[in-house]
Amino acid sequence: MIQTMKATVATGYGSPEVLRLQEVKKPVPKANEVLVKVMTASATTADAMMRTGKPYIARLFVGLTKPKKAIPGTGFAGIVEQVGKGVTDFKIGDRVFGETAFGFSSNAEYLTISEKGVILPMPENLGFSEAANFCDGHLTSFNFLKEIAKVKPGQKVLINGASGALGTSAIQIAKYMGAQVTAVCSGRNSGFVRSLGADEVIDYQQKDFTKGKEKFDYIYDTIGKRSFLACKNILSEKGLYLSPVLKFPLLLQVIRTSLFGQKKAKFEATGANKEEKLRFLLKEALDIYIAGRLKTVIDRQFPLEKVAEAHRYIDAGHKKGNVVIVICS
Ligand SMILES: NC(=O)c1ccc[n+]([C@@H]2O[C@H](COP(=O)([O-])OP(=O)(O)OC[C@H]3O[C@@H](n4cnc5c(N)ncnc54)[C@H](OP(=O)(O)O)[C@@H]3O)[C@@H](O)[C@H]2O)c1
Repeated sequence: MIQTMKATVATGYGSPEVLRLQEVKKPVPKANEVLVKVMTASATTADAMMRTGKPYIARLFVGLTKPKKAIPGTGFAGIVEQVGKGVTDFKIGDRVFGETAFGFSSNAEYLTISEKGVILPMPENLGFSEAANFCDGHLTSFNFLKEIAKVKPGQKVLINGASGALGTSAIQIAKYMGAQVTAVCSGRNSGFVRSLGADEVIDYQQKDFTKGKEKFDYIYDTIGKRSFLACKNILSEKGLYLSPVLKFPLLLQVIRTSLFGQKKAKFEATGANKEEKLRFLLKEALDIYIAGRLKTVIDRQFPLEKVAEAHRYIDAGHKKGNVVIVICS
């Protein structure tokens, strides 16, 4: 008999209403895969962008007319319920977390993932809610600041969108790496980002940070609201503008600055890296968590039945840290 499970299904591209709770076929693990009973999953700004199918260029990878992977969500935390016959790294009952990257499918009661995928055992002191969102904020910002930027102690890092999922991670990671951190957020989040370690705070509603006199070695625009060209004047001589937000003008600047000029622009889709590299990076980020230097900021939690509502909240653009989908409590 075919077994089923509850899952959020994107019935097409569009507003949060395209997301419906449906009964779908429960996945069966292949020889190298584990079946995870999902306790919590992430709902992210990246998921909300995928839901709209914009920018259109992204559809080349995720589906031209509708999502190739109908179940949204990448981050997950849960318990191994079944293992394929070739699996050696995990056993039934293990608490695990990670991300499915372009496999999506985490906003569901069950998912399957290769044992060599982006999946790690959960340490004792990591809760399911924190673990579900570990990859979106921490893994992405760790990739940008450590792997791409290679931030060194004493360097100046400006983080735009400092109160979001990537921003809250970035403040903590940049501080861990010994940088001097300037956070850009609204006045109401000023004390909050300072509590995460920001040395200076700029209120974007009061001041345009690109018009200041201070120079920065790195500008990490986590929300992609300001362009490389707008930021160029406040980059140091060999400064680097980094943004995780896919935009066509940014891609042009990445190409142009790779050929000309000392100030550079960089974009990367973290999830497009090899699974082995991502798992290694995740382990490194987890070590910072275990050392007590990194925490996951959780804003709101929604049940699986309310993923559309979670997306409406994310679409408003004012979440503070992360949104969690609680599937089994
Ligand atoms: N390339 C990759 O590997 C990768 C991976 C993951 C995510 N992403 C992308 O990264 C982006 C960021 O995601 P996120 O979840 O970190 O963002 P987010 O949490 O949705 O950002 C919301 C935050 O941004 C702040 N904000 C809004 N307008 C602002 C402005 N003009 N200036 C400064 N702050 C402002 C808001 O603060 P207020 O409420 O105070 O306004 C809010 O706290 C998304 O586009 C996502 O698709 C890329």
